[in-house]
Amino acid sequence: MMNQNGYDVVVFGATSFVGRILAEYLLHTFGVGEDLTWAIAGRSEQKLEALRSELGSMAVDLPVIVADASDEAALQSLCDGTRVVISTVGPYALYGEPLVRICAESGTDYCDLTGEVQWLRQMIQKYEDTARNSGARIVNCCGFDSIPSDMGVWFMQEQAQARFGKPLTRVSMRVKAAKGELSGGTVASLLNVVKEASSNPELRRELANPYSVCPPNHGFTARQHTVKKAEYDPDFQAWTAPFVMAAINTRVVHRSNALSGKAYGSDFRYDEAVLVGRGLKGRATGWGMTGFMGGFMLGASIAPTRWLLERFVVPKPGQGPSREAREKGFFDLRFFGETEDGETLRGKVTGDRDPGYGATSKMLGQAGVCLARDVDREQVGGGFWTPATALDGQLLERLQNASGMTFELLEDQA
Ligand SMILES: NC(=O)c1ccc[n+]([C@@H]2O[C@H](COP(=O)([O-])OP(=O)(O)OC[C@H]3O[C@@H](n4cnc5c(N)ncnc54)[C@H](OP(=O)(O)O)[C@@H]3O)[C@@H](O)[C@H]2O)c1
Repeated sequence: MMNQNGYDVVVFGATSFVGRILAEYLLHTFGVGEDLTWAIAGRSEQKLEALRSELGSMAVDLPVIVADASDEAALQSLCDGTRVVISTVGPYALYGEPLVRICAESGTDYCDLTGEVQWLRQMIQKYEDTARNSGARIVNCCGFDSIPSDMGVWFMQEQAQARFGKPLTRVSMRVKAAKGELSGGTVASLLNVVKEASSNPELRRELANPYSVCPPNHGFTARQHTVKKAEYDPDFQAWTAPFVMAAINTRVVHRSNALSGKAYGSDFRYDEAVLVGRGLKGRATGWGMTGFMGGFMLGASIAPTRWLLERFVVPKPGQGPSREAREKGFFDLRFFGETEDGETLRGKVTGDRDPGYGATSKMLGQAGVCLARDVDREQVGGGFWTPATALDGQLLERLQNASGMTFELLEDQA
């Protein structure tokens, strides 16, 4: 292919809340006009120029590309010769398809932050063959959903193979602690899924299927447990509550298992929840969180209350946590896994910024650069991949070295 642009990475949606943080991260990590060639893109030239000015003197030579998400010619020219397009233009179900199609057709690699499982499934169904033929590697879900879960399970399985010579047939991820807030774009994406599901029974069934983004011939039959209410977890000796991101993370982890030739086993089971404490207090917190989440989902599924939530309660598109809040944010996830013979492992994955934006932008940036730089096409061909199956240990190294994340086994296995 003619390398017209010659960019390693183009950030499409650079003026979004998360795109701005990503642009700043890439600037301070890779500079401009140095080893990594990259550009910012979006629909408004004025906003892109304003962003470049805000980024300061280091960014004066940062190239700008103008493209609307519905302008196919502009998207085609953005992809021309670009190695990886990173997209933060969401909700993806509303704006994302033309870019995915053009990347799949033109053999351009692609990463995004979608957590919209119904859209992901549609894109795989429509464009997987095209991407396989063109050689485009499409890697979705490269943010807090679902890199810590997907790479966390991958890490635990690597450790299990090294230690026991066999996989963990069951893994649980528990959010031990996290500090962060939501942005308008994330809330808009979440509300859009709930809105679509409230009027579409088939979609509700699809969302309930743990294997919904696995290839059609996956053959998995293991019943998966979903934490839908407060539950006591004997492995962690604590109460748990539902975790909102489990709906996408668990699907991505099962797809990783399917794409890796069932490296985690045919009967692999995986679930996620939030740890809320021990004793009566833990139990009360668990039920309180269950009620809050149920109320929010109910409110979001009914048009008048959804309007009230959008109008008065949740942040608007473009809004999100302050720099100070992002810097004070963090996450601490715990993993418990067991082999079929009862050997167990405990692990921990942490991040040093708020999960949704500070940490997510670093994960997405490193995933895009990893795809552009580290993963050759012989090793990973065209198709729809998960972070763990496309990027595996190379991403793990980048996350640990340059993204403030840690992956470790807890030797005190109590
Ligand atoms: N997986 C994760 O962990 C994670 C974390 C954070 C965010 N996200 C997802 O990332 C996405 C972005 O979130 P956000 O909070 O940054 O959203 P946001 O601030 O609302 O930004 C949305 C972006 O989409 C752009 N856009 C909208 N319509 C467009 C069009 N027709 N052509 C080109 N660009 C268009 C907007 O452009 P303008 O700037 O010109 O208005 C804006 O840059 C959301 O889908 C969110 O769910 C995921």
